[in-house]
Amino acid sequence: MPNLRSHRIKARSYFQSFFHFLFILMVECTPPEDPIKCSSKTSNCIITNSYGMFPDRSICQAANAIYPTSEDEVIQALAFATKNRMKMKVATRYSHSIPKLVCPDGEDGLLISTKYLNHTLRIDQSALTMTMESGVILRQLINEAAKAGLALPYSPYWWGLTIGGMLGTGAHGSSLWGKGSSIHDYVVGLRIVTPAGPEDGYAKVRVLDYGQADLEAAKVSLGVLGVISQVTLKLEPLFKRSITMATRNDSDLADQAVSFGSQHEFADIKWYPSQHWVVYRKDNRVSTNISGNGLNDFPGFQSRLAIELAVNRGLEETQEATNDGDGKCTSSRIITSLLFAAAYGLKNKGLIFTGYPVVGYQNRLQSSGSCLDSPEDKLTTACPWDPRVKGQFFHQTTFSIGLSNVKSFIQDVQKLVNLEPKSFCGLELYDGILMRYVKASSAFLGKQEDGIDFDITYYRSKDPMKPRLYEDILEEIEQIGVFKYGGLPHWGKNRNIAFDGVIRKYRNAEQFLKVMKVYDPDGLFSSEWTDQILGLKKGLEIMKDGCALEGLCICSQDSHCAPTKGYFCRPGKVYEDARVCIRLNSK
Ligand SMILES: Cc1cc2nc3c(=O)[nH]c(=O)nc-3n(C[C@H](O)[C@H](O)[C@H](O)COP(=O)(O)OP(=O)(O)OC[C@H]3O[C@@H](n4cnc5c(N)ncnc54)[C@H](O)[C@@H]3O)c2cc1C
Ligand SMILES: *[C@@H]1O[C@H](CO)[C@@H](O)[C@H](O)[C@H]1NC(C)=O
Ligand SMILES: *[C@@H]1O[C@H](CO)[C@@H](O)[C@H](O)[C@H]1NC(C)=O
Ligand SMILES: *[C@@H]1O[C@H](CO)[C@@H](O)[C@H](O)[C@H]1NC(C)=O
Repeated sequence: MPNLRSHRIKARSYFQSFFHFLFILMVECTPPEDPIKCSSKTSNCIITNSYGMFPDRSICQAANAIYPTSEDEVIQALAFATKNRMKMKVATRYSHSIPKLVCPDGEDGLLISTKYLNHTLRIDQSALTMTMESGVILRQLINEAAKAGLALPYSPYWWGLTIGGMLGTGAHGSSLWGKGSSIHDYVVGLRIVTPAGPEDGYAKVRVLDYGQADLEAAKVSLGVLGVISQVTLKLEPLFKRSITMATRNDSDLADQAVSFGSQHEFADIKWYPSQHWVVYRKDNRVSTNISGNGLNDFPGFQSRLAIELAVNRGLEETQEATNDGDGKCTSSRIITSLLFAAAYGLKNKGLIFTGYPVVGYQNRLQSSGSCLDSPEDKLTTACPWDPRVKGQFFHQTTFSIGLSNVKSFIQDVQKLVNLEPKSFCGLELYDGILMRYVKASSAFLGKQEDGIDFDITYYRSKDPMKPRLYEDILEEIEQIGVFKYGGLPHWGKNRNIAFDGVIRKYRNAEQFLKVMKVYDPDGLFSSEWTDQILGLKKGLEIMKDGCALEGLCICSQDSHCAPTKGYFCRPGKVYEDARVCIRLNSK
């Protein structure tokens, strides 16, 4: 961790007193895992994500952090910053996005945290709607809706995300049914505070209702339109579902994947390519009179002993350092079979799994994340990726491919599997390739067509100049997905290169930019990163020695890889237009 004092910024003293006055109550509580750390109460701050590292490993600074507890306090803070032309960003309780969405440009920006905007405001049981503040976490949303007999039909699988953050990046679960699996497609209204001129007191609350064109911009906003203060979601009466995880070999996966999503409402697929093994989630609604009180507690989101995490990470590092592909395959088979035996954390009742189907209420099955409740002080246990312990450290490449291209994409990946079977063991350590169904959305920056979101997690070295075992294969898959088949990268995951030219893939990008110009004409909520992904600024690729190793560039010369370690820039094996770092001259 960097020394905070070395990042001291001269904040003008009136800022200090303003923030002091408004947020005096905040002084005592800054839990250690807060992504915002300030050297003096609420000033001279740095912010990071929940992994402790952005793709380019930079550290983001801000002059101040502010923790409003109501929409009025959001308005005051935003008006103050607008008047003083400060850059702003909305930060959340945990800051789970991987890219630098949360960084204000420069050093004297303002972070507006939604940590204390965590109240449910209204639940309307006859209209089936729930209105909440934007910092409400998915777990709380699910629980409070269930208490009123309601459910969000589809959601991300990890419940530590805030409603504002999920809308910020287009977060989703898996379904082709109804309006699909994206949270933002269930928004029927929201309130957003935006900058304004002196005649409006420098801030304006815009109330967006269902059917209004601006809502299509605000539903997936990348945080550049202003501060969403409240969100209203359309829910459904609480229901039950019945889950069976069915295994099968992967010889017909390319065909199955295309049709499976229309057969089961909550279908998803886990693919373990080197083991030629697939787990199909056959998951559907059932009548509430079917017995069962199942629970989902996915092991990947459970607290783990710090010592266990350190041993696993140490083993992975050794396998990397010694090019031990076989060792990785042994480890991945063990992990895969443990997860299978543990039914991926599904329990029929109480704490045990007795067999499929697992039947239960939606609120107990849709999402999990018991590691959020790890003891805060001791760090003997933690979420597996908690940067304060030696644990998981990974890249995540996640893109959605239109259903019409899914078959060809899977076949291309299978060609790579046949060429280098062991190269996939590394990602199987992280539960394989998770394939989830997403549906076309009316949101300007939402999914453009029905498709499958491929979610791939893999080892990242603590040393940016160290290549990864079978580096080339994962780089090739990334380029096949994003460039050959025009995949849309998840806005809240991925490495820089996945976003190269991304905005051209969105038909309504111009309409989004128009709303942005109206809501925030001076770009106070924009940053270099959001300008780059929105196609307004160049520099998304960072060309330097070793840049391809971290996905900061696509290699065009050997120095972008690690020639001294035997990794050189070459065309892909299946996709010739790909340029990847491949290990040569050794076995
Ligand atoms: C363990 C884990 C599991 C995950 N599982 C899934 C999954 O199943 N499906 C999926 O789609 N994604 C998943 N994600 C990714 C996740 O959806 C996104 O990263 C999400 O945006 C993070 O939400 P957050 O609340 O942490 O927001 P942040 O990452 O803090 O913020 C995201 C963006 O939203 C903006 N923002 C946040 N609140 C507001 C607001 N009130 N007003 C305006 N802008 C705002 C921020 O400024 C930022 O630009 C997962 C991530 C992790 C770490
Ligand atoms: C809101 O968040 C704060 C800080 O994490 C917490 O102390 C408080 O209990 C939360 N309130 C609700 C209603 O969840
Ligand atoms: C995969 O399973 C099918 C039956 O489901 C079988 O016909 C086929 O031979 C299997 N392929 C391999 C490679 O095991
Ligand atoms: C369960 O409810 C359905 C209607 O929702 C009904 O048709 C069925 O008979 C019920 N089954 C039992 C066992 O009560």
